[in-house]
Amino acid sequence: MSDVQTVSRISLRVNGQSRELSIDNRTTLLDVLREHLDLVGSKKGCDHGQCGACTVLVDGRRANSCLLFAVAMEGADITTIEGLGADVGMHPVQSSFVDRDALQCGYCTPGQICSAVGMLAEVGAGWPSAATEDLGSQSITVDANEVRERMSGNFCRCGAYANIVPAILDNAR
Ligand code: FES
Ligand code: FES
Repeated sequence: MSDVQTVSRISLRVNGQSRELSIDNRTTLLDVLREHLDLVGSKKGCDHGQCGACTVLVDGRRANSCLLFAVAMEGADITTIEGLGADVGMHPVQSSFVDRDALQCGYCTPGQICSAVGMLAEVGAGWPSAATEDLGSQSITVDANEVRERMSGNFCRCGAYANIVPAILDNAR
């Protein structure tokens, strides 16, 4: 009989709450969120890191949770769409998505919003993208091209892009 350890005990901080659980070592962060913690806002679109529907913030940086093994996340601070929304009201990016009607079926929307929040933080930190024209500038001007480039990992299969871009731009000024 094998003595290989297949189950691990992990501690995460999820949406400001400490969570401890025992999981199979092969479990992804996305499955931990959805199947173990009942946080079903993060969606499983492709399960291959190609659509962005599962995007969450890990220690403040956006990441595809379907590509992360939960055991590697020990001690991490995870924010999902449920954590951005909080009881006290919507996050400004969420409000803009509503105001701009930036959704159709809404399946991709949680990932889009988490990604937009992470993207805006990256801009604020001065990180350039492939669309940034002036790499020497102290502050990056966010225009539609910047939004499209930086959000290119998030697909919307029903095509709400025309409203997603202005919803994000509303938060970039
Ligand atoms: S479900 Fe993770 S990128 Fe598609
Ligand atoms: S709103 Fe339907 S996939 Fe994005």
